Amino acid sequence: MLQVELPLKLPRADEEDGSYADRMLGLLQGDLGFHGQKSPNIFHSWHAFPAKFPPQLPHAFIAELTQPGDIVFDPMMGSCTTLLEAVALGRAAVGTDIDPLSIRLGQAKLIAARAVSAGIRGHEFLERVRQRLSQQPETLQKALEKRFDEKTRSFVDYWFAPHTQLELIALIREIERIEDPALRAFFTLTFSSIIITKSGGVSMARDLAHTRPHRVTDKVPNSPLEEFGKRLQKNLKNMKWQGRSESTILEANSRKLPLGENSIDLIVTSPPYASNAIDYMRAHKFSLVWLGYAVDHLSQLRRGYIGGDATTGIEYLPMPSYTQKMIHHLSAADAKKGKVLHRYYSEMTESLSEMQRVLRPGCAAIVVVGTSVIRGIDIQIHHCLREIGEAVGFEHVHTGVRQLDRDKRMMPARWNRKNNTGIEARMHEEYVIGFRKPGTEDGR
Ligand SMILES: C[S@@+](CC[C@H](N)C(=O)[O-])C[C@H]1O[C@@H](n2cnc3c(N)ncnc32)[C@H](O)[C@@H]1O
Repeated sequence: MLQVELPLKLPRADEEDGSYADRMLGLLQGDLGFHGQKSPNIFHSWHAFPAKFPPQLPHAFIAELTQPGDIVFDPMMGSCTTLLEAVALGRAAVGTDIDPLSIRLGQAKLIAARAVSAGIRGHEFLERVRQRLSQQPETLQKALEKRFDEKTRSFVDYWFAPHTQLELIALIREIERIEDPALRAFFTLTFSSIIITKSGGVSMARDLAHTRPHRVTDKVPNSPLEEFGKRLQKNLKNMKWQGRSESTILEANSRKLPLGENSIDLIVTSPPYASNAIDYMRAHKFSLVWLGYAVDHLSQLRRGYIGGDATTGIEYLPMPSYTQKMIHHLSAADAKKGKVLHRYYSEMTESLSEMQRVLRPGCAAIVVVGTSVIRGIDIQIHHCLREIGEAVGFEHVHTGVRQLDRDKRMMPARWNRKNNTGIEARMHEEYVIGFRKPGTEDGR
């Protein structure tokens, strides 16, 4: 297995401001809502992503539990909230994800942004695209015909109007001509961000991020060129790199991490919901097809996401007793859903075990999960993950509860229902599980 070399650490000085355990408990028992707080870090809003957590959450744990130069890791980094906050605080950031869009966002936000903060000539770029659109429409049409395989082509035809396709191909071809990889990554992120929005961006989809997207014929899609121009301007205006340290981004499965053991000082992460409640690929496909991915390949990739609903060819692991009981309980109501849940907990067992392996002794893993209700049964995800975490060798410190801000986080479809049952109320909660790897090192 490829192992990524992370910098060697110097031993830390003894801590003066209370013990590590006290600070960790204080955070977990404190107010984790962060409502009404705005992050000064503008990079977070560059691109929509389902179930991002508020930047203040990783920020609080990173600020309290690490020191400058420490290594902060998110094995399922999504839109890189943890990494951006780590870097802004002068910590080294490491992130992995299985999702190609997440990797591209990470590259653009963390690596490219530094390099491109000066010297972007957005107007010239847009002018070149406009010229190609007016002078070479046939060339663009031909490029469009050659770009996709048959299945991807029908996906694109179904979701994007013909004139939208022409503007998108003109934009992406111009982006692909950019030689500087950092600049190209930044423009690619801007391109993707005009497609993936809550409303479906320049596509004919509605509710792209919230539910199963549906095609609407009465929607007049915005012009990609105009949207791109606006976004570019906004991103450039706010471009002020706040990071002061290194970051490493890797496309990897959290079930088998390419990192050495005892190499990480803090993990702050949020795994997918159980039972495929948010289908990342469903929304990301809309952008990834333009970035060179075929629909079949993306379906293949989707199988590797934690919490997927396929139940064949899966290695089901033995579960600790409470978790096993929950699986049985659900299986009695719906055998297939029971298997899907068993798959989820098996994959989370491997992921938590990997987190435990890569953490340094005495260090914390903060795992944020939402409630999951399947077939009307609250599957008690926080109790099960706590039990699994303990089974793979973590010490459980405390589980904090945070009330979700309905308007902020893109959540599964059920969320929008107006219903005041107990379960429905709990759907607005999220759990912040605090684990610690046993052992002490460097005065922790
Ligand atoms: C809840 S999101 C993380 C959101 C992130 N905390 C943020 O603020 O943007 C969960 C992430 O887990 C990733 N994921 C799913 N299965 C994975 C796997 N097997 N390995 C690594 N990442 C995975 C998804 O691609 C998604 O980006």
